[in-house]
Amino acid sequence: MSAENPKSAKPTKRTAVIVVAAGSGTRLGYGMPKALVPLNNRTLLEHALDRIAMATCADEVIVVLPAGDSELGALCARHELRPRTVIGGSTRNDSVRAGLSALGPGVEQVLIHDAARCLTPPEVFDSVAGALAGGATSVIPVLPVVDTIKTVSQDTGAEQPHVTGTPAREFLRAVQTPQGFHAATLIEAHAQADGWDKARAEEITDDAMLMERLGERVDTVPGSPEALKITTPMDLLLAQSLLGSGTTEGATMNQPDDQAMQAAAPMLIPRTGIGIDVHAVADASEPRDMWLAGLHFPGVQGLSGHSDGDAVAHAACDALFSAAGIGDLGTHFGTDRPEYAGASGTTLLAEAARLVREAGFEIGNVAVQFVGRRPKFAARRLEADAVLSKAAGAPVTVTATTSDGLGYEGTGDGLTAYATALVYSVKR
Ligand code: CTP
Ligand code: MG
Repeated sequence: MSAENPKSAKPTKRTAVIVVAAGSGTRLGYGMPKALVPLNNRTLLEHALDRIAMATCADEVIVVLPAGDSELGALCARHELRPRTVIGGSTRNDSVRAGLSALGPGVEQVLIHDAARCLTPPEVFDSVAGALAGGATSVIPVLPVVDTIKTVSQDTGAEQPHVTGTPAREFLRAVQTPQGFHAATLIEAHAQADGWDKARAEEITDDAMLMERLGERVDTVPGSPEALKITTPMDLLLAQSLLGSGTTEGATMNQPDDQAMQAAAPMLIPRTGIGIDVHAVADASEPRDMWLAGLHFPGVQGLSGHSDGDAVAHAACDALFSAAGIGDLGTHFGTDRPEYAGASGTTLLAEAARLVREAGFEIGNVAVQFVGRRPKFAARRLEADAVLSKAAGAPVTVTATTSDGLGYEGTGDGLTAYATALVYSVKR
């Protein structure tokens, strides 16, 4: 590995990297932990681990996982780094503390890294570890700030806050991870903060700040534009195009050359698809459970059909197949795949998403609207979005409407689900 990174010498002090991946990814809106979200056929956590494996500094790696997780843990067990795993807490600070409690013996320096900064180049890890090995207690990667930054008055909600000052930009830096520390000093800092009240604890937004509060000097090294934190769907698109340009493989800490990047970047042309499914409501003489949009609706007469009749999930599958150009429900779940006879809507959707990815696509989103009198849906819409998004590994949104009493949807004899999907090629 050192041959691939001639610039960075292996620090002599035993070094651990803790990857915090226990967040829920609320702002990304995938209905799953952010570390599990796919980016070019690999989860964000795997991208982060891949780059740590390319660095030379890590003697041991610990991944902090969400409570109740099994999928990320399984990915860790399969990864070449074979990281140790530990369950995190409800705040990032709690998760860091959980990671620190799992450090192996003899660790002298520790790097804390956000899984959300999954494209951070290996060189950044090595330069943080190298600065620690050179005697620093705390080291953070930083970038110059391009915007003018203002401080504002407290937001009371009554009116827009007003500006209270403009710090000189030359002294401002945007802070990234991995942040590196003398291990014993960081453990001591976290132990002290453990007793703080909630308000004081919430002021601490990164580990370096904890060190600053304790009067420790914090040094800086150059960060990387590729170490962006994936927080919103737009960040994911940017990460996608960075991967497409190839600049993050064997990455460099220099700014990518704009022209070379544009020449290398493939044009991203998304593909849309459509799917429609109609199911009759089963006859009253034959009571059936109502399953729709991955949810059970107790007390509502269900839809007829061999499967659970989940027209929303079925329409979503067809829209995905249509967008990827790989046939339809009959092609993939027909009589030659008896294992899918009677499968639930979410099982079919998860398999459809897998097939679409196998065909070389990533899923942008799926939108479904159903038309019908029942079930009453508004109160369970967010629950449905979460269940289906988890199955598809991509945002799925469901809306519902009635047909003003017209047709079979209006009489309550059946319902129709209309779905569209957007996918984009990630073929290399
Ligand atoms: N993190 C963690 N434990 C928490 C909260 C956050 O380990 N209780 C981790 C996240 O997994 C992420 C990093 O801290 O790698 C930065 O957090 P953020 O970007 O806010 O991620 P999420 O908390 O997952 O996202 P959101 O705030 O949108 O829910
Ligand atoms: Mg968060």
